[in-house]
Amino acid sequence: MAREQFGICAEPNLHGSYLLFNVLDDKNAFIRTALSRLPALFEDYADQYSEANLTSVVAIGANYWDEFYPQARPIFLEPFPTMHSEDRVAPSNNVDIYIEIRSDRGDVNHIVSSKVCQLFADSVELIEQIQAFRFLDGRDLTGFVDGTENPTGMHRREVALVKDTEDIIFSGGSYLHTQRYEHNLTLWNSLKNKEQEDTYGRTKLDNIEYASEDKPLTAHTKRTSLKDDQGNSLEILRQSMPYGDMKCQGLFFVSYCHSPLPFTLMLKSMIYGDGHGHVDHLLKYTQAETGAAFFAPSLTFLLELAPDTDNSEDLSLTV
Ligand code: HEM
Repeated sequence: MAREQFGICAEPNLHGSYLLFNVLDDKNAFIRTALSRLPALFEDYADQYSEANLTSVVAIGANYWDEFYPQARPIFLEPFPTMHSEDRVAPSNNVDIYIEIRSDRGDVNHIVSSKVCQLFADSVELIEQIQAFRFLDGRDLTGFVDGTENPTGMHRREVALVKDTEDIIFSGGSYLHTQRYEHNLTLWNSLKNKEQEDTYGRTKLDNIEYASEDKPLTAHTKRTSLKDDQGNSLEILRQSMPYGDMKCQGLFFVSYCHSPLPFTLMLKSMIYGDGHGHVDHLLKYTQAETGAAFFAPSLTFLLELAPDTDNSEDLSLTV
């Protein structure tokens, strides 16, 4: 398998900087070259600030892929699956390039984010930037630990990375979905502890899963625990982080997987329910404001984007 981008399976960090860009017309060649240089840039800063545990991911938007790399396309890459039922929504927006920079130092993230923007220069428009942070012991701002049932150890790679047998050209890559959720914390905090716990199907303080028979069919963990036809659990690797200020707070939801299907089925189960009216009650207290689908190619693929030195344009990439 090709070498993957190390940020995909990395353990959680204290700070996150998520940058979402659109590429301006006629800048595709420049952007390909710029992306081929990012792994070296990230490695330099990871060495320089080794105690910060800097990791990063570069991904290309589903709607931009064909323009970016017309030669081939990841087999299952599709636009974000927009959904809508009553007041539950999963909107999508157009994003060409996704950069995830995570480390245990906010200042290091700032330096590296600035370098990325400097490298892209006037070839892109910065659509959105999210400064995210670890909250307490890895909790979402609703106060519940997030990520407990994530795959661990080597299993993270099995869940998150495309295998040779699935797509030989794009093995080592990952299908990525992002959604920026905005929480209604005033409403959430008006609930009793037990009502909050029933919403997730886990206890709050000590983070214990409800027994199966006690879990409401509307609990978030019930709606997202799905099995395929053979009875195998569908899994994704979540790398979400809380974000916010005193005006607006929520979760920047990030899912990596070897296929886009598990995320899509989970989101369907949350929004449209189980066919018997059981939808995800977490969505009464939070709403997705954005959504986008990407492919995070392997490190090997990114490095091969560098143009031949003989016929490369003068891109003046000085970082
Ligand atoms: C604001 C949005 C969300 C919040 C605050 C949130 C929070 C949480 C929390 C606290 C847990 C329980 C602990 C854990 O295992 O991580 C959880 C579990 C989980 N969530 Fe979410 N989540 C959100 C959105 C989503 C979305 C959009 C998906 C997928 C489409 C998803 C998929 C999952 C999965 C697969 C689990 C593990 C279920 C299990 O096996 O028990 N979550 N989430």
